[in-house]
Amino acid sequence: METIHASVDPVALVHRVGALIDAGRCGAAGPLLAAARQLIEPSPELNLLAARLAEGQGEHGLARAEFDAAVEAAPDQGSLRKRRASFCHRTGDFERAARDAAEAVILDPQDADAKALLGSALLSLGRPADARACLTEACTAQPGNPAYREALAVATEADGDPDAAFAILRGGLSPTGGSLNLRNAAILFCIRHRAFRQAVGLAEEGRIAGTVDACLFGLKGHAQSSLGMHAEAAESYAEALKLGPGDPYVRHLVAASGLLPSAKRAPPDYLRAVFDGYAERFDDHLIGLGYRIPGAIRHTVAEYLGTVGPCGPILDLGCGTGLIGVAIADLPIGPLTGVDISGRMLAEARAKGIYATLEEADVLDWLADRPDTWQLILAGDVLCYFGALDGLLRAIQPRLAPGGWFVLSVEERREDAEESGWSLQRQGRYAHSRAYLDEVLRACGFVVRRMDAQVIRMEAGAPVLGYLIVAEPAPAVH
Ligand SMILES: C[S@@+](CC[C@H](N)C(=O)[O-])C[C@H]1O[C@@H](n2cnc3c(N)ncnc32)[C@H](O)[C@@H]1O
Repeated sequence: METIHASVDPVALVHRVGALIDAGRCGAAGPLLAAARQLIEPSPELNLLAARLAEGQGEHGLARAEFDAAVEAAPDQGSLRKRRASFCHRTGDFERAARDAAEAVILDPQDADAKALLGSALLSLGRPADARACLTEACTAQPGNPAYREALAVATEADGDPDAAFAILRGGLSPTGGSLNLRNAAILFCIRHRAFRQAVGLAEEGRIAGTVDACLFGLKGHAQSSLGMHAEAAESYAEALKLGPGDPYVRHLVAASGLLPSAKRAPPDYLRAVFDGYAERFDDHLIGLGYRIPGAIRHTVAEYLGTVGPCGPILDLGCGTGLIGVAIADLPIGPLTGVDISGRMLAEARAKGIYATLEEADVLDWLADRPDTWQLILAGDVLCYFGALDGLLRAIQPRLAPGGWFVLSVEERREDAEESGWSLQRQGRYAHSRAYLDEVLRACGFVVRRMDAQVIRMEAGAPVLGYLIVAEPAPAVH
């Protein structure tokens, strides 16, 4: 507990508050900041501290008001503009972020940081060519800055030039080391483009240069596993686990490789990391893989409408970029609510303008707090991130209106009498057996109306098999 003496030096107090916020000790910083505000005249510096504190405590409205006050008090201070730009970017107000960053560039045309911020905001606004130009200027000013280089590579890829994007990442690495984040970004780039051997090579180069990092070994394991080198992948995963025993991403991949018993669901941090990183390419990639679930769900929704007429509200769990919303948008339905754990997937969905409401949350937490019901609840390719389904199904069942349908897709797990009804597969998704699905749906208060075999999409040239299920709430027993 911090105590405040009347004789305290206000400057030292302000420094102390800043240090506490930096250390994540917002609870301790709050009373000290309040005391500082009584001792010191109002200033942009105090507004800035209050903004950082409010953001650290998750109070984004308050943080924004403090940032606004700081900028209003000193509109010509580029550093304040940049602070507010970063905050606005983090909280999804990309327009404001771009305007502030642009102001900072105007105030100081040599400010590479402001140019990089502007580039990132333009990228989030879907203007990759402009983003690329700004980030190129930032990188030219500071060629050794790995964060600028990584952002430029992202913009360059989004601008349709993946070869140049990879060259930018590769150019920032040296055989004797270089930035770890940049190396991991380059490895991830190779994995995403299915250049698994090159990914292993980059990881190996890093290891030889003395890099010791859980993520690097985790990615190496992922690439090796994709090449069918399962023994080598297991070694890499084991190394990753030693280095980052608590890292949710690593733990999930390690479990998927069979080295750890699998958890009952994919960890939220893992999901966010995977889908935030995937959001921009998701639609193109899934369409390229012949993803069939939106079409199959549309067919089922149309069938439902044929019996009940226009219907709503509708809930899309794990809505992602909104491909299901697109598939049903022309039907007499609505309003449509989407929930997803990944802010970037939601940003793509928002851009499609189909959903009345989009919420960023873990579906399990979100459902637990809801009093309302839906006539249709849809879940396309999202239950594959849960192993045991009972918790989620019990949360969904009371949220279905009488006569409503729950339409979901799952990946098929081949029956095996010896094992449980679900298992975690190497790619990090869960598959479920038909018998388990039947049993768990019934146990959680549903009647299974239909469970149709369904090709979900193609993967490595082969169909991924699963089911499209329609379930209704079981009639109440009196
Ligand atoms: C394969 S995508 C499918 C997206 C969409 N339903 C579709 O069919 O196009 C899976 C989505 O589920 C989301 N997701 C996975 N687990 C989740 C959870 N526990 N809570 C909220 N969203 C989740 C992911 O972020 C991702 O956007």
